[in-house]
Amino acid sequence: MTLTEAWKHVLNRVKEAVADSDHPFRFVALATIDKNKRPQQRTVVLRDFSEESTFMIYTDSRSDKVGEIRESDSASLLFYDDKEKLQLRVTGRASIVKAGEEYKRHWDNGGSSSPHSYTSVVTPGSKIENPDEAFNWHLESTPNFCLVKIEAVRMEFLQLDGVRHIRSEKIIRNREEILHWLAP
Ligand SMILES: Cc1cc2nc3c(=O)[nH]c(=O)nc-3n(C[C@H](O)[C@H](O)[C@H](O)COP(=O)(O)O)c2cc1C
Repeated sequence: MTLTEAWKHVLNRVKEAVADSDHPFRFVALATIDKNKRPQQRTVVLRDFSEESTFMIYTDSRSDKVGEIRESDSASLLFYDDKEKLQLRVTGRASIVKAGEEYKRHWDNGGSSSPHSYTSVVTPGSKIENPDEAFNWHLESTPNFCLVKIEAVRMEFLQLDGVRHIRSEKIIRNREEILHWLAP
Protein backbone atom coordinates (compact mmCIF):
# COMPACT_ATOMS: atom_id res chain seq x y z
CA MET A 1 0.00 0.00 0.00
CA THR A 2 1.30 3.48 -0.88
CA LEU A 3 1.18 6.45 1.50
CA THR A 4 -1.44 8.08 -0.70
CA GLU A 5 -3.63 4.97 -0.69
CA ALA A 6 -3.31 4.61 3.08
CA TRP A 7 -4.40 8.22 3.70
CA LYS A 8 -7.25 7.91 1.21
CA HIS A 9 -8.62 4.99 3.21
CA VAL A 10 -8.33 6.81 6.55
CA LEU A 11 -9.91 10.05 5.32
CA ASN A 12 -12.71 8.11 3.61
CA ARG A 13 -13.56 6.73 7.05
CA VAL A 14 -13.85 10.33 8.31
CA LYS A 15 -16.13 11.27 5.37
CA GLU A 16 -18.37 8.26 6.03
CA ALA A 17 -18.79 9.35 9.67
CA VAL A 18 -20.34 12.68 8.66
CA ALA A 19 -23.21 10.85 6.99
CA ASP A 20 -23.50 7.82 9.30
CA SER A 21 -24.56 8.42 12.90
CA ASP A 22 -23.49 4.86 13.87
CA HIS A 23 -19.97 5.24 12.48
CA PRO A 24 -17.11 4.77 14.98
CA PHE A 25 -15.58 8.09 13.87
CA ARG A 26 -18.85 9.95 14.47
CA PHE A 27 -17.97 10.73 18.09
CA VAL A 28 -14.59 12.34 18.55
CA ALA A 29 -12.64 13.71 21.52
CA LEU A 30 -11.96 17.43 21.12
CA ALA A 31 -9.11 18.82 23.22
CA THR A 32 -8.53 22.51 23.90
CA ILE A 33 -6.28 24.45 26.28
CA ASP A 34 -7.88 26.27 29.22
CA LYS A 35 -6.81 29.58 30.76
CA ASN A 36 -4.51 27.74 33.21
CA LYS A 37 -2.80 26.06 30.21
CA ARG A 38 -4.34 22.73 31.15
CA PRO A 39 -5.74 20.41 28.46
CA GLN A 40 -9.52 19.93 28.45
CA GLN A 41 -11.24 17.17 26.49
CA ARG A 42 -14.84 16.35 25.71
CA THR A 43 -16.77 14.10 23.31
CA VAL A 44 -18.41 15.87 20.36
CA VAL A 45 -20.18 14.86 17.14
CA LEU A 46 -18.33 15.25 13.85
CA ARG A 47 -20.69 17.32 11.66
CA ASP A 48 -18.64 18.01 8.55
CA PHE A 49 -15.30 17.29 6.94
CA SER A 50 -14.11 19.28 3.91
CA GLU A 51 -11.01 19.94 1.82
CA GLU A 52 -9.46 16.77 3.31
CA SER A 53 -8.36 18.77 6.37
CA THR A 54 -11.20 20.87 7.87
CA PHE A 55 -13.38 19.38 10.61
CA MET A 56 -16.65 20.94 11.84
CA ILE A 57 -18.39 20.61 15.22
CA TYR A 58 -21.60 22.26 16.50
CA THR A 59 -21.79 23.72 19.97
CA ASP A 60 -23.26 26.35 22.31
CA SER A 61 -21.29 29.61 22.17
CA ARG A 62 -21.59 29.96 25.97
CA SER A 63 -19.76 26.66 26.59
CA ASP A 64 -16.26 26.57 28.10
CA LYS A 65 -14.72 25.15 24.94
CA VAL A 66 -15.69 28.28 22.99
CA GLY A 67 -14.07 30.57 25.56
CA GLU A 68 -10.98 28.38 25.51
CA ILE A 69 -10.73 28.51 21.72
CA ARG A 70 -11.15 32.28 21.74
CA GLU A 71 -8.14 32.46 24.11
CA SER A 72 -5.98 29.82 22.39
CA ASP A 73 -6.68 28.42 18.94
CA SER A 74 -4.69 25.20 19.50
CA ALA A 75 -6.95 22.16 19.39
CA SER A 76 -6.76 18.47 18.74
CA LEU A 77 -9.17 15.73 17.75
CA LEU A 78 -8.86 12.03 18.54
CA PHE A 79 -10.77 9.43 16.52
CA TYR A 80 -10.79 5.70 17.23
CA ASP A 81 -12.39 2.86 15.29
CA ASP A 82 -12.44 -0.17 17.57
CA LYS A 83 -13.43 -2.62 14.82
CA GLU A 84 -10.63 -1.60 12.44
CA LYS A 85 -8.24 -0.80 15.33
CA LEU A 86 -7.59 2.50 13.59
CA GLN A 87 -6.62 5.67 15.46
CA LEU A 88 -6.49 9.14 13.89
CA ARG A 89 -4.95 12.09 15.75
CA VAL A 90 -5.41 15.62 14.42
CA THR A 91 -3.80 18.82 15.66
CA GLY A 92 -4.83 22.16 14.26
CA ARG A 93 -6.15 25.67 14.60
CA ALA A 94 -9.69 26.09 15.88
CA SER A 95 -12.01 29.03 15.18
CA ILE A 96 -15.59 29.91 16.07
CA VAL A 97 -18.07 30.68 13.29
CA LYS A 98 -21.19 32.50 14.43
CA ALA A 99 -22.46 34.30 11.33
CA GLY A 100 -22.39 34.21 7.55
CA GLU A 101 -23.32 31.86 4.76
CA GLU A 102 -21.47 28.84 6.17
CA TYR A 103 -23.14 29.35 9.57
CA LYS A 104 -26.62 29.60 8.04
CA ARG A 105 -26.04 26.55 5.84
CA HIS A 106 -25.09 24.44 8.86
CA TRP A 107 -28.07 25.67 10.88
CA ASP A 108 -30.43 24.86 7.99
CA ASN A 109 -28.80 21.49 7.19
CA GLY A 110 -28.34 20.05 10.67
CA GLY A 111 -28.23 22.45 13.59
CA SER A 112 -31.95 23.18 13.48
CA SER A 113 -32.74 19.47 13.88
CA SER A 114 -31.35 19.47 17.45
CA PRO A 115 -32.14 22.96 18.81
CA HIS A 116 -32.32 21.72 22.40
CA SER A 117 -28.53 21.49 22.30
CA TYR A 118 -28.04 25.25 21.83
CA THR A 119 -31.05 27.08 23.27
CA SER A 120 -31.06 26.20 26.98
CA VAL A 121 -32.16 29.10 29.18
CA VAL A 122 -29.52 28.21 31.77
CA THR A 123 -25.93 28.66 30.60
CA PRO A 124 -24.12 25.32 30.07
CA GLY A 125 -21.83 24.47 32.97
CA SER A 126 -23.58 26.72 35.53
CA LYS A 127 -24.32 25.27 38.99
CA ILE A 128 -27.95 24.26 39.54
CA GLU A 129 -29.81 22.71 42.49
CA ASN A 130 -31.61 20.10 40.42
CA PRO A 131 -31.30 18.73 36.80
CA ASP A 132 -34.90 19.89 36.09
CA GLU A 133 -33.76 23.52 36.28
CA ALA A 134 -31.88 23.04 33.00
CA PHE A 135 -34.86 21.58 31.09
CA ASN A 136 -36.05 24.89 29.73
CA TRP A 137 -35.27 26.08 26.19
CA HIS A 138 -35.72 29.15 23.96
CA LEU A 139 -36.65 27.01 20.96
CA GLU A 140 -37.77 29.96 18.82
CA SER A 141 -34.30 31.55 18.65
CA THR A 142 -30.75 30.37 17.93
CA PRO A 143 -28.33 32.98 19.32
CA ASN A 144 -26.07 30.42 21.00
CA PHE A 145 -25.66 28.00 18.10
CA CYS A 146 -22.13 28.17 16.70
CA LEU A 147 -19.66 26.17 14.67
CA VAL A 148 -16.22 25.09 15.79
CA LYS A 149 -13.98 24.74 12.76
CA ILE A 150 -10.70 22.87 13.15
CA GLU A 151 -8.19 23.27 10.34
CA ALA A 152 -5.62 20.52 10.59
CA VAL A 153 -1.91 21.28 10.50
CA ARG A 154 -0.87 17.73 11.31
CA MET A 155 -2.60 14.37 11.20
CA GLU A 156 -1.32 11.00 12.24
CA PHE A 157 -2.88 7.58 11.92
CA LEU A 158 -1.99 4.28 13.53
CA GLN A 159 -3.43 1.07 12.10
CA LEU A 160 -2.91 -1.88 14.40
CA ASP A 161 -2.43 -5.15 12.52
CA GLY A 162 -1.09 -8.03 14.57
CA VAL A 163 2.53 -7.06 15.01
CA ARG A 164 2.90 -5.29 11.65
CA HIS A 165 1.31 -1.99 12.65
CA ILE A 166 1.26 0.93 10.22
CA ARG A 167 1.76 4.54 11.29
CA SER A 168 2.00 7.68 9.17
CA GLU A 169 1.92 11.45 9.52
CA LYS A 170 0.64 14.15 7.23
CA ILE A 171 1.90 17.70 7.66
CA ILE A 172 -0.14 20.43 6.00
CA ARG A 173 1.65 23.68 5.26
CA ASN A 174 0.35 26.42 2.91
CA ARG A 175 -2.12 23.90 1.43
CA GLU A 176 0.78 21.54 0.61
CA GLU A 177 0.95 18.11 2.20
CA ILE A 178 4.02 16.20 3.30
CA LEU A 179 3.49 12.51 4.05
CA HIS A 180 5.81 10.18 5.95
CA TRP A 181 5.72 6.65 7.25
CA LEU A 182 6.58 6.50 10.95
CA ALA A 183 7.77 3.59 13.04
CA PRO A 184 4.80 2.48 15.12
C1 LIG B 1 -22.01 11.24 22.84
C2 LIG B 1 -21.82 12.71 23.14
C3 LIG B 1 -21.86 13.61 22.10
C4 LIG B 1 -21.69 14.97 22.34
N1 LIG B 1 -21.71 15.84 21.30
C5 LIG B 1 -21.52 17.17 21.53
C6 LIG B 1 -21.44 18.10 20.44
O1 LIG B 1 -21.53 17.75 19.26
N2 LIG B 1 -21.25 19.41 20.76
C7 LIG B 1 -21.12 19.84 22.04
O2 LIG B 1 -20.95 21.03 22.25
N3 LIG B 1 -21.15 18.98 23.09
C8 LIG B 1 -21.35 17.65 22.86
N4 LIG B 1 -21.38 16.78 23.91
C9 LIG B 1 -21.22 17.30 25.27
C10 LIG B 1 -19.73 17.57 25.53
O3 LIG B 1 -19.05 16.34 25.71
C11 LIG B 1 -19.52 18.46 26.76
O4 LIG B 1 -20.05 17.85 27.92
C12 LIG B 1 -20.18 19.84 26.60
O5 LIG B 1 -20.06 20.32 25.28
C13 LIG B 1 -19.54 20.85 27.55
O6 LIG B 1 -18.17 20.93 27.28
P1 LIG B 1 -17.26 22.20 27.68
O7 LIG B 1 -17.77 22.64 29.03
O8 LIG B 1 -15.89 21.67 27.71
O9 LIG B 1 -17.47 23.25 26.65
C14 LIG B 1 -21.51 15.42 23.68
C15 LIG B 1 -21.45 14.48 24.70
C16 LIG B 1 -21.60 13.16 24.44
C17 LIG B 1 -21.53 12.19 25.60
